[in-house]
Amino acid sequence: MILPPTPDNIRKAAGLLLQGDLVAFPTETVYGLGADIANKNAIERIYKVKGRPQTNPLIIHLYSFNDIQKVASLEDSPLVEARLQKISGLWPGPLTVILPKHPLVSPLVTANQETVAVRIPNHHVALEFLKECMVPVAAPSANRSTYVSPTTAEHVLEDLGDDVDMILYGGPCKIGIESTIVSFVGDIPKILRPGAITFETLQALLPDIELAQKNEEVRAPGMSPLHYAPFTPIEFIRDADISTLPPRVGIIAFKDYEGLDAIPQCVKLATLSLNGNFSEISERLFGTLREFDKEKLDLILIDECPETGLGVAIMDRIRRALH
Ligand code: TXA
Ligand code: MG
Repeated sequence: MILPPTPDNIRKAAGLLLQGDLVAFPTETVYGLGADIANKNAIERIYKVKGRPQTNPLIIHLYSFNDIQKVASLEDSPLVEARLQKISGLWPGPLTVILPKHPLVSPLVTANQETVAVRIPNHHVALEFLKECMVPVAAPSANRSTYVSPTTAEHVLEDLGDDVDMILYGGPCKIGIESTIVSFVGDIPKILRPGAITFETLQALLPDIELAQKNEEVRAPGMSPLHYAPFTPIEFIRDADISTLPPRVGIIAFKDYEGLDAIPQCVKLATLSLNGNFSEISERLFGTLREFDKEKLDLILIDECPETGLGVAIMDRIRRALH
């Protein structure tokens, strides 16, 4: 059931979460499927409902910076604490940080890792909801495992139906792709998943930061190669052989090209931005993939963008969707 985020409904949503139910809520990145981190049954239900392997840990969502001490142990890690202070101005925002775990956080939430992922989302409905809950809320993206993340309340309903007890409505997500994940627990800070908080932004605050190598990414198991994929086969426009296209092709372009709709097999065309604007592309990318997936296409052909700034995250998600 999708409900508007009135004060009454926010209170109701928090009440449901505290009694062990699952509540989906909007964030600036994608919709999350929330559960109380202290409720074992609710956390187990998240894995079950998503069809997510229990080896893939969940992100904990917090209302304020001071809540971090409820889920992370920083006393013995002055270096981690210093890094945290440096990025604190990016919160609330599309950034998730990996920290040493507090002993009281259930290993179910962290998939038995000694670390915990935390973020403070920048969406007024998410913040009002988290404030009302007064407990840390575990929330993976509110989709079935391996499908495209949901960027509207309707996507959540389509994916999860009655398996979710309540969906708070918050309109389409402004950023549209998942948060940047940075690990603070190693010798140097590492970006495990690119997102709207870019490498350049992080490097200005943490000069030694690096992008994780492919083998390190595996420790964030959600980064397994096939992850954000629609059911329809999808490949880059540049790799397509125009002379042997199947009968029904959809094309997702990132700027206004001439002549694409003249390709006879092109039965659906979406232009995500008129001039290749990264924010417009990321905002519409997942919704467009879902829309195209309903069209019984034989193939989706998709554009590319330069891998700078937010373009890194856009290309990362597209590569994981190719098949
Ligand atoms: O934007 C987002 O981050 C959204 C919204 C709802 O906040 N959430 C999201 O959650 O994308 P999810 O579960 O779909 O992706 C979480 C990623 C997974 O790749 C998981 O492996 C990684 O975070 N992760 C969680 N805890 C971790 C940990 N302790 N160490 C390394 N990676 C971790
Ligand atoms: Mg996900």
